[in-house]
Amino acid sequence: MNKSTQHMQSDYRYVLAIALLLSSPIFLSADESVVNSKHNLSTSGRGTIRALNEDQVCIFCHAPHNTAPQTPLWNRHNPTAYYRIYQSSTTDARIDQPGAASKMCLSCHDGTIAMGLVLSRDPNDPLPMNQPFMPTGPSNLTNDLSDDHPIGFRFDRQLSNRDPQLRSPDLVSREVKLGERGQLECTACHDPHNNELGNFLRVTERQGVLCNTCHDMTGWRTSAHALSPRTVPATVTGGTPREFRSMADNACGSCHSSHGAAHPERLLNDRPSDLCIDCHNGLYGRDIQGVLNARSGHRLKRLYDAHEPNENPLTMRPHVECVDCHNPHAVKDDPLGSRLARIDLGRARVPPAMAEVPGVSSSGVPIDRANFYYEVCFRCHADKPVPITNRIARQRDSYGNIRRQLLPTAASSHPILRSARGGNETPSLTPEARLKTNMDCQDCHNNPDARQLGGGGPNGPHGSRFEYLLADRYETADFTMESPQAYSLCYQCHDRTSILGDESFKFHRRHVVDGRSPCSSCHAPHGVSGSRSRHDHLIILIANCRWAAVL
Ligand code: HEC
Ligand code: HEC
Ligand code: HEC
Ligand code: HEC
Ligand code: HEC
Ligand code: HEC
Ligand code: HEC
Ligand code: HEC
Ligand code: HEC
Ligand code: HEC
Ligand code: HEC
Repeated sequence: MNKSTQHMQSDYRYVLAIALLLSSPIFLSADESVVNSKHNLSTSGRGTIRALNEDQVCIFCHAPHNTAPQTPLWNRHNPTAYYRIYQSSTTDARIDQPGAASKMCLSCHDGTIAMGLVLSRDPNDPLPMNQPFMPTGPSNLTNDLSDDHPIGFRFDRQLSNRDPQLRSPDLVSREVKLGERGQLECTACHDPHNNELGNFLRVTERQGVLCNTCHDMTGWRTSAHALSPRTVPATVTGGTPREFRSMADNACGSCHSSHGAAHPERLLNDRPSDLCIDCHNGLYGRDIQGVLNARSGHRLKRLYDAHEPNENPLTMRPHVECVDCHNPHAVKDDPLGSRLARIDLGRARVPPAMAEVPGVSSSGVPIDRANFYYEVCFRCHADKPVPITNRIARQRDSYGNIRRQLLPTAASSHPILRSARGGNETPSLTPEARLKTNMDCQDCHNNPDARQLGGGGPNGPHGSRFEYLLADRYETADFTMESPQAYSLCYQCHDRTSILGDESFKFHRRHVVDGRSPCSSCHAPHGVSGSRSRHDHLIILIANCRWAAVL
C-alpha cells in the first residue's frame, strides 16, 4: 500500500468517523452513559483508573485518525497473546481463539497492553495513566480464558439443533448481540457504552434472564433452585458476596460464574459435590453433609471428581457424586412425600428430587432421563456394579447385578420391577404392606432419621447409621439374638408374630430364635434367579446350609 492510498483511506475513515459519531444515535447515548461509567478513563472519569491529563472520553477506544482496520474506528493495538480457551467435555461449539470483537476488550482486559497505548499517538508516548495496566483482580481476565464463559465461536442454528438446552440464535439476537455470522464474543453480553445494569451488561442477570436468553435448562422454571427465597452464602463463591441476596434472584449465579470460575469446567463456583455441600450443610439448604458422615452410605469423598455428565455406565470408573442422582437445574422439593402417587405402570417413578437425571432401563439400556426410581440406581448397581466391600456374596446373586436379581423372570423378588402379586403367598405381610402395590429401593435404603419416616433429617439414600445404607436395623451376623429390633427392617412389613409363629416356613422360629440364624443366611434381600421351586421366597442356597436337611 503506498502513501497516497493510505492517506486516502484515512481520509475516508475520517469522513466516516464524523458521519458515524455525529449521525449515530449511539453517539448521543454512548456519550452520556460512557461518561458516567468506569469506561470513562479520562480525567473526568468516575472509576479508580484514570488518565493523568487526557480529557477526551472516547479516545482510549476510538479515534477519527490512524485507526486500526476494523470498525468502529478502533484506536487500539490488537493483542497478540495466545489465549488458553474454555474447555469442557460437554460443549458442542467449536471454540477457538477470541474473535475481533473480543480482542477489542482484551486489549485492556487481559492486562498485557498499556491502557494509554493508543494508535493515534506515538507508541513511545502513551497517554499517562494512574495505573498503566489493568491491575490484577476480577477485571483482569489474563491470557487464561478457560475459566470464563466460552467466546470465539459461532452460535448458529447448527449448534442449537444439536443441543436441546440451547435456544435458537434467531430468537436470542434481539436481546444480546451476536456477530454477523453468529459469532459469540464479549459484546454478546456486554455493551461497553452502557452501564445502567452494572457490569456493562445488555440484559439483567437477575433471575437468570441473561443466561436464559440463550440457555434453556430443562426443568429450570419450576426447580427449587430457581424459586428459593433463601440467602446465597458468600462461601459458595469463595468469599465474594453474590450480586443479589436470594437464590431466586441470583439464579444461575448461585452456582456458576461467567468469569474466573473456581472450577473452570462448566464454570462452577466449586467442585461439583463441594458446591452442593457449601449450601446443603444445614445453614442454607437441607443438611446432607451431616448424614454423609454416617456409618454407611454414598460417601462422596472417596471417589471424587470422577463424574462426567456424558459418562457411559458400562465403562465409567466407580464413583458417586450428588449430580449422579440430582440434576441441579431440575431438583424439586416433595412437600407431601407422596410416594404412592408416583406409581406408574406398576413401578415407582423418580421422586421430584431426581427429576431429569440419566439412568439404565430394566433391560440394561442407558437412557438420558430416568422415569423409574430404580433406573437411577442401575447406572452403578447393575451390569457393571461398583464394588461394595461388605457385600454378602451368595450363589445366584448375579455378582451384585441388582437389575438381574430383580427381573420379573427371577424365581422370586421384592416387587420393584413388577407389581406385587397380592394373594396369600406371603402370609406374613402386615395389613399396610398388603396394600403396597409396589416398592422402590428407598423402602429399604433410606436415612432412618428421614423426615418422611418421622425424623428430622433429610430424605433419601445419602447415609445411614445402619450398615448397607438401610432405613432400619437389620443384623446379618451369625448368632444374632432375635428381637423386634434386630430385624426391624423386615418386621416393618412382615409381621414378627407370623414369621416366628411359623405361618409359612415351618422352621423359622427354630432357626431364627433357637439357632440364632439371621434372615440373611437364608434370604437374599432383592431377588434370586434360577428355578422357581428352589429359589422362591428369596431363598438362596448356601453350600453348608444348616437348614437344607430339614426341608
Ligand atoms: C472502553 C472502550 C470504549 C470507549 C471508551 C468508547 N467506546 Fe465506542 N465502542 C467500543 C467498542 C468495543 C465498540 C464495538 C462494539 C460492538 O462491536 O458491539 C464500540 C462501538 C462504537 C460505535 C459503533 C456503534 C456500535 O455501538 O457498534 C460508536 C458510534 C461508538 N462506539 C461511539 C463512541 C463514542 C462517541 C464514545 C465516547 C463518548 C465511545 N464510543 C467510547 C468501545 C468503546
Ligand atoms: C481502554 C481500555 C478498556 C477497554 C478497551 C475495555 N475496557 Fe472494560 N474496563 C476498563 C477499565 C479501566 C475498567 C475499570 C476496572 C476496575 O475498576 O477494576 C473496566 C471495567 C469493565 C467492566 C466492569 C464494570 C463494573 O461495573 O465493575 C466490564 C464488565 C468491562 N469493563 C467490560 C468490557 C468489555 C466487554 C469491553 C469490550 C467490549 C471492554 N470492557 C473494553 C478498561 C477497558
Ligand atoms: C455469556 C455472557 C458473557 C460473556 C460472553 C462475557 N461476559 Fe463478562 N460478565 C458477564 C457477567 C454476567 C458479568 C457479571 C459478573 C459475574 O456474574 O461474574 C460479567 C463481568 C465482567 C467483568 C467485571 C469483572 C467481574 O468478573 O465481575 C469484566 C471485566 C468482563 N465481564 C469482561 C468480559 C470480557 C473481556 C469478555 C470477553 C473476553 C466477557 N466479559 C465476556 C457475562 C459475560
Ligand atoms: C449469547 C448467548 C449466551 C448467553 C447470554 C449465555 N450463554 Fe452460556 N453458552 C452459550 C453457548 C452457545 C454455549 C456453548 C454451548 C455448547 O457448545 O454446547 C455456552 C456455554 C456455556 C457453558 C459451558 C457449557 C459446557 O458444556 O461446558 C456454561 C456453564 C454456560 N454457558 C453458562 C452460562 C451462564 C451461567 C450464563 C449467564 C451468566 C450464560 N451461559 C449466558 C450461549 C450463551
Ligand atoms: C444449584 C447449582 C446450579 C444452578 C443454580 C445452575 N447450575 Fe448449571 N450446572 C450446575 C452443575 C453442578 C453443573 C454440572 C453438572 C454435571 O457435572 O453433571 C451444571 C452444568 C451446566 C451447564 C453445562 C452442562 C449442560 O448440561 O449443558 C450449563 C450450560 C449450565 N449449567 C447452565 C446453567 C444456567 C443457564 C443456569 C440458570 C438458568 C444454571 N446452570 C443454574 C449447577 C447449577
Ligand atoms: C447456593 C446454595 C445452594 C447450592 C450451591 C445448592 N443448593 Fe440445593 N437447594 C438450595 C436451597 C435454598 C433449596 C430449597 C430448599 C430450601 O429452601 O431449603 C435447595 C433445594 C434442593 C433440592 C430439593 C429438595 C429440597 O430440599 O427442597 C435438592 C435435591 C437439591 N437442592 C440438591 C442440590 C445439589 C445436588 C446441589 C449441587 C449440584 C445443590 N443442591 C446446590 C440451596 C443450594
Ligand atoms: C453414580 C453411581 C451410583 C449411583 C447412581 C448409585 N450408587 Fe449406590 N453406591 C455407589 C458407590 C460407589 C457405592 C460405594 C460407596 C462406598 O463404598 O463408600 C455405593 C453404595 C451403595 C450401597 C451400600 C452402602 C454401604 O455402605 O454398604 C447401597 C445400599 C446403595 N449404594 C444404594 C443405591 C441406591 C438405592 C441408588 C439409587 C437411588 C444408588 N445406590 C445409586 C454408586 C452409586
Ligand atoms: C433357615 C433359613 C431361614 C431363615 C433364617 C429365615 N427364613 Fe424366611 N423363609 C425360609 C424358607 C425356607 C421360606 C419358604 C417357606 C415356604 O416355602 O413356604 C421362608 C419364607 C419367608 C417369607 C415368605 C412367606 C411369609 O412368611 O410371608 C418371609 C417374609 C420370610 N421368610 C421372612 C424371614 C425373616 C424376616 C427372617 C429373619 C427374621 C427369616 N425369614 C429367616 C427360610 C428362612
Ligand atoms: C426389601 C428391602 C430392600 C429393597 C427394596 C432393596 N434393598 Fe438393597 N439391600 C437390602 C439389604 C437388607 C441389603 C444388605 C444385606 C444383604 O445383602 O442381605 C441390601 C444391600 C444392597 C446393596 C449392597 C450390597 C449388594 O448386594 O450389592 C446395594 C448396592 C443395594 N442393596 C442396592 C439396592 C437397589 C439399587 C435397590 C432398588 C433397585 C434395592 N437395593 C432395594 C434391602 C433392600
Ligand atoms: C444415590 C443417589 C443420590 C446421591 C448420590 C445423592 N442424593 Fe440427594 N437424594 C436422593 C433421593 C432419591 C432423594 C429424594 C428422596 C425423596 O424425595 O423421597 C434425595 C433428596 C435430597 C435432598 C432433599 C432432602 C429432603 O428431605 O427432601 C437434598 C437437599 C439432596 N438430596 C441433596 C443431595 C446432595 C447435596 C448430595 C451430594 C452430597 C446428594 N443429594 C447425593 C438421591 C441421592
Ligand atoms: C416396605 C415393606 C417391606 C419390607 C421392609 C420388606 N418386605 Fe419383604 N415383601 C414385601 C412385599 C409387599 C412382599 C410381597 C411381594 C409380592 O406379593 O409380590 C414381600 C415379599 C417377601 C418375601 C417373599 C417373596 C416371594 O417371592 O415369595 C420374602 C421372603 C420377603 N419379603 C423377605 C423380606 C425380608 C427378609 C425383609 C427384610 C430384609 C423384607 N422382606 C422387608 C414388603 C416388604
